[in-house]
Amino acid sequence: MTARPGSAAAPYGIVGSGRVARHLGHYLDTLGLEVRRWTRSATTAPELALAGCPVILLWIRDDAIEPFLDRADFSGRTLIHASGSLRTPMAHAMHPLYTFGPELYPDDVYPAIPFVCDEDGPSFSQVFPDLANPSWTIASDQRPLYHAACVMGGNFSTLLWNRAMQIFRELGVPPEAAVPYLERTCANVAQHGPGALTGPLARGDRRTIEANLNALEGDDWGRVYRAIVEAARPGLLDDNPETIE
Ligand SMILES: NC(=O)c1ccc[n+]([C@@H]2O[C@H](COP(=O)([O-])OP(=O)(O)OC[C@H]3O[C@@H](n4cnc5c(N)ncnc54)[C@H](OP(=O)(O)O)[C@@H]3O)[C@@H](O)[C@H]2O)c1
Repeated sequence: MTARPGSAAAPYGIVGSGRVARHLGHYLDTLGLEVRRWTRSATTAPELALAGCPVILLWIRDDAIEPFLDRADFSGRTLIHASGSLRTPMAHAMHPLYTFGPELYPDDVYPAIPFVCDEDGPSFSQVFPDLANPSWTIASDQRPLYHAACVMGGNFSTLLWNRAMQIFRELGVPPEAAVPYLERTCANVAQHGPGALTGPLARGDRRTIEANLNALEGDDWGRVYRAIVEAARPGLLDDNPETIE
């Protein structure tokens, strides 16, 4: 593809060929932005492969970013990584607040992906002047807390849904039967926030919660259930529970 006229930041240099590099590299391709790529299987040096790229996108695993930059000479370039948690003086964070699966997504998905950037780094529009994605900034020292929220919201819910679907399967209910429930839960959380919660935790229904915990006895996820009750409804499972709001 030829570079778009006026794309001051292109050609983009992409390091890596993993999920983020494939998805977001595809996004830049579909916009007609010129991209050059380097992966560690390349026979040329990264400085040579990415010569002339004002922005280097380090879309590789978190723990490889600093060692890679230690060895490479990209002086004078804008260095961007996609990690939600890494804090390094060597590159600026622009974290896509999204999840990237094994398959590419339809083209209309990518422009809606939000990016969370370093407050003291270049702005999203400076680095990607041709992209209209929403973006926010956070202070670097808030990044660990921000990433903890990402992991709880996205990764924990994935694990919980997978365990729930496994139980459905064991009981003869096909896991796909739970998909409408999952989709409505997501939509209600997006629309109503805390008001989306239903079930025994919403009602403070200790008897049902205890029956659930008994059913999960011997299952490691029972401890997770208990921990969530303790975080969401402190005191509810105490022997002499104080008044629950
Ligand atoms: N996946 C997501 O949903 C997601 C979401 C938001 C942010 N991120 C962030 O995006 C970045 C990339 O994650 P990913 O999910 O795309 O990872 P990934 O699919 O596991 O791919 C990792 C990439 O890193 C490369 N790599 C590993 N060690 C390397 C080294 N020593 N030198 C050079 N390249 C090396 C791998 O190269 P080989 O192919 O040669 O092994 C591969 O291309 C990470 O910072 C991650 O935190 C990911």
